[in-house]
Amino acid sequence: MSHEQIHQQIEHLREVLNSHNYKYYVLHKPEISDFEFDNLLKELNDLEAKYPEFDDPNSPTKRVGSDLTGEFTQVQHKYQMLSLANTYSDDEIKEFDARVVKGMGETPEYVCELKYDGTAIGLTYKNGRLAQAITRGDGIVGDDVTSNVRTIKTIPLVLHGNDFPAEFEIRGEIFMPRKVFDDINTLREEEGEVPFANPRNAAAGTLKLLDPTVVAQRKLDCFLYFILGENLPFNNHFDNLKKAKDWGFKIPDNNKLCKSVDEVLAFIKQWDNDRKKLPYDTDGVVIKVNSYQQQKVLGFTAKTPRWAIAFKYKAEQVTTQLLSVDFQVGRTGAITPVANLKPVKLAGSTVKRASLHNADQIELLDIRIGDSVQVEKGGEIIPKIVGVDKTQRTLFSTPLNFIANCPECSTPLVKPEGEAKHFCPNQVGCPPQIKGRIVHFISRKALNIDGLGEETIELLFAKGLIRDIADLYLLRKEQLLNLERFAEKSTDNAIKSIEESKVIPFPRVLYGIGIRYVGETTARKLALHFGTIEKIETATIEQLLEVEEVGDRIAQSIVEYFSNPITINLIDRLKLAGLQLKVDESLNQKISDKLNGLSLVISGTFSRISRDELKELIQKHGGKNVSSVSSSTSMLVAGDKIGPAKLEKAQKLGVRIVSEEEFFELIS
Ligand code: IVH
Repeated sequence: MSHEQIHQQIEHLREVLNSHNYKYYVLHKPEISDFEFDNLLKELNDLEAKYPEFDDPNSPTKRVGSDLTGEFTQVQHKYQMLSLANTYSDDEIKEFDARVVKGMGETPEYVCELKYDGTAIGLTYKNGRLAQAITRGDGIVGDDVTSNVRTIKTIPLVLHGNDFPAEFEIRGEIFMPRKVFDDINTLREEEGEVPFANPRNAAAGTLKLLDPTVVAQRKLDCFLYFILGENLPFNNHFDNLKKAKDWGFKIPDNNKLCKSVDEVLAFIKQWDNDRKKLPYDTDGVVIKVNSYQQQKVLGFTAKTPRWAIAFKYKAEQVTTQLLSVDFQVGRTGAITPVANLKPVKLAGSTVKRASLHNADQIELLDIRIGDSVQVEKGGEIIPKIVGVDKTQRTLFSTPLNFIANCPECSTPLVKPEGEAKHFCPNQVGCPPQIKGRIVHFISRKALNIDGLGEETIELLFAKGLIRDIADLYLLRKEQLLNLERFAEKSTDNAIKSIEESKVIPFPRVLYGIGIRYVGETTARKLALHFGTIEKIETATIEQLLEVEEVGDRIAQSIVEYFSNPITINLIDRLKLAGLQLKVDESLNQKISDKLNGLSLVISGTFSRISRDELKELIQKHGGKNVSSVSSSTSMLVAGDKIGPAKLEKAQKLGVRIVSEEEFFELIS
């Protein structure tokens, strides 16, 4: 074959594969077997490897995600990515309709769509090819996640036909089908990883992974619902979306054109039930005025379009029976009552357990064994009990008494003043507390001993090989090899990761030892303030209170922790093991030059760190902190509740605005 013929063959294979992808993933009508598809893909892959001069980022071979990106760059949205006003009742929908009719002087046509529960994405196509995929970010600037988005099979890399505008943007929702979510979580639980709370978090988290190969395995999907650009074929939303389907996009089939608000309400009613049968999560209905002309007349408020609204369904509830209550003991000794329920289907999964939080909650609900209870699933994995149907209660039921003694070690429980929870005070002798502390100590944010997992800790504890965190450093290879779970390789791994933890910096060790109320941030502040564990050990309440964010409760807890001779002995043994128990001076020094020469303004509140820490971090990366936005400001780091004046000024002056997350990615 001549060079040109090879090029043609490559192009031909790409076209054929793209078209089969579309038939398989979007139309669900495959025409060839997986085997045949894989063969064609392999042929293309081989040719591309041999002839890199014909490389193309939009080749179907790129769907498996082959390149490792560093971090995401931030890109300004061409059209601001707005969100929608929410409503929860039919009356509010009627009010929306009345506002629209008043604004336009006539009844419009509405398009009703399902509201997909995932993460928003904006896809730009240039000359029929995917050019860029950007997340919402703060609506003005988003992350460029193109390499990850390329791995999503239902997103066309090259469009069909030739009647699309030369450049346009199409927006939609990337989501994780429920089945994929369940499978991933099962795997994560088996491997001792924290499961995702819900498919939405799983989709958003996946999209931000740095390795597209992993993204490709997560089987994300995407519905498109909004198209923007000049020279669109029609002057209304509905027809343009229908057209976009011909170009290869996955446009939902259930979009409906409605001629009156009553039809809209009927759509909402119908889908409240029908959506439960869908293999993905939806949380409402989006109602849009169809005509672009009418959309233009209605315009926008500061944050949302006046021509669209979201109706959100209430969280799903089911009724089931309370069979019994277990009392679980956490690492800090906190007791959590957990309800065992008669298994019931709720929002796509079977619910058997629900948290009852604490004694006050039990009293508030006046819940009794055998009661008929309403269970609701919010954003969390563990559903909650929101009510009791007392009409179903038998005469003989008795109130549920909170236990007086620890279910694990029988020590009488205490309920400290001002605390909602009961605690088992037997910190040194209560098995779940001991194991919990060791599991916390080895966790990723603490000593990151990833050669051991929760189950291994259980085993080592059961065999009497460890009684506290310092014992980990006395473990020998022969001891591990004798255990059923350990082969040569896993033993070496475990020993190696224990050894490696000895260089983990002091702030993380302090967090890892698990003083009650001392989280990651507080541990860091304490470590930097005092410098050594000895100084923290001997600090008075007053001295502790001098540390930013340390209040009475934390100070008291620290003093109590170090007043126990067992703790002092533990710290001595950790010292002997060679752990970092003082601040490494280099921690205070420069970390990188990534912000060299830049002046940054911070505004709002931040979730990961305090404002002071953020300023410190800016300095350590070479940046300069300035207090107000001007034309010489390089960047505004926007937290929650950002000052509107600062935001507006930054927008006006074209100053780059980054979110907290984006800032961390910038300096990572
Ligand atoms: S339209 C200006 N349509 O819900 C209109 N959004 O609360 C832009 N969403 O930001 C959005 N399904 O992330 C639209 N069928 C749908 C949707 C949808 C889910 C998300 C989207 C949006 C948010 C609004």
